[in-house]
Order: sequence, then C-alpha cells, then structure tokens
Amino acid sequence: MRKKLVVGNWKMHGSRAANAALLSGLKEQGPWSAEVAVCVPFPYLAETALALTGQAVLLGAQDCSAFEQGAYTGEVSSAMLADLGCRYVIVGHSERRAYHHESDQLVADKAKAALAHGVTPIVCVGETLAEREAGQTETVVKRQLAAVIHTLTHCIGEIVLAYEPVWAIGTGLTASPEQAQSVHAVLRTQLHAATQKSDAMRILYGGSVKPDNAAQLFAQADIDGGLIGGAALKAADFAVICRAAN
Ligand code: PGA
Repeated sequence: MRKKLVVGNWKMHGSRAANAALLSGLKEQGPWSAEVAVCVPFPYLAETALALTGQAVLLGAQDCSAFEQGAYTGEVSSAMLADLGCRYVIVGHSERRAYHHESDQLVADKAKAALAHGVTPIVCVGETLAEREAGQTETVVKRQLAAVIHTLTHCIGEIVLAYEPVWAIGTGLTASPEQAQSVHAVLRTQLHAATQKSDAMRILYGGSVKPDNAAQLFAQADIDGGLIGGAALKAADFAVICRAAN
C-alpha cells in the first residue's frame, strides 16, 4: 500500500508575513494521515523549516542545480537544500522546462544531484495541449521519464513522479480522473520495466487540483496524491485536499 503524498507548490508567491499566516493555518488544520509537504521559494526555506518544527509537514524546494558546487551564480545546490532540511525538491516543472528551456537531460541531472544528497526529487512530466491534441501524450511523457530512468539507472525507484498536463496547470482545466489514471498507468508500466520497486513508487497528479475534485482523482488506482499549486496558497483549501488523500 502506497502512502499518499500531497505537495504544495507555492511557486513565486509569498512574503514572510503571508507565509507565517499560511503555515499557522496549516498547523491548525493538520495533522493528516497522508504525507504532506510544502515546496517554498528559496529565500523562505530556513524560516519555513523553523516554523514547521514539531509538525508533520515536510519541507521542499522548487528547483535545484544539476551541479555540485562552484561558480554558478544564482544557482542553489541540492547539498544546500539538504543542509536546510529539505526532504523534497521539484525538478522539471513545466514552467521551468518552458521558461528556462530545461531539457529532459538537465531535469534528469538535477534529479541525480538531489538524490546524491538525500533529497527526493519530485520529477514532473506532462504534455502541452498541442501535444495532447496531436495524440502525442504517451510519447511525450515516456520520453521525459526515459531520460530520468536512463540517468538514474538503479536509483530510479527513489524518485517521486508527478504527471502534470501542461494544459491543466493554473488554467482551471483538470484532467478527468480517467484521463489522469490512464497516463499514470502508462508511467507505472514504464517504471515497472525499469525497477522492481515500481509498485511502491508514488505518482502524483498535478494541474488544477481543488478541494472539490481531489477525492475523485486520488481514488484512482495509480494516483498516489497531488502536486498542488494555486489551492496550496489557502490553508483551508489545502487542508481539504490533504484530507481527501487520507
Ligand atoms: P495548479 O498548479 O494547481 O495551480 O494548477 C500545479 C502545479 O503547477 O504544480
């Protein structure tokens, strides 16, 4: 039985005051039987780590460098994330693939760097609307995952995978539970061919998960929780989603 995981992706939102209010709201609403994490902007990691002391909510970041250390201005290494207490780091989010031109190989290298420091990468894959309409969904997500499998080899079983159809992110359009499940099943089959641990691996769904659609999505056989953007910024909404994953 896989323990469900719900991850809030705050993206580039927040302030010290707003974060404090959100985190104290979460404290009032929890704990949940699902595993819960928040991926916060880099400048707030240390303060969030402190605020989460004694709580079951885990800390995560939204990106990391593929490099170990050195002259990489503006980059943040996975060793630094580990140092700050991060349990998770999102890599390959479609916003980074699109706006920062991150390739499948770079995403795989980032996942490898994270694992090397004991930070679990949440690797995002997903197709654009044009790719879906062209019937390329499977090809695209399999290509994105294949790069990670190829790079991590026997460590692939250590990642969390997130299926996030690009057309559903921040748009209010959600993949139907059946649409999501069918892609998750494809991804699980691909993982199965690569590792004996595939049945224990968590595959999250992300893309306009809201309090009113979370339970149906999480009820699907291969959906093991969610990666939540907009709805993670309101403690009450996020709490309902976490409860739906119980
Ligand atoms: P959304 O974002 O829930 O606002 O659609 C999800 C994500 O990008 O991880």
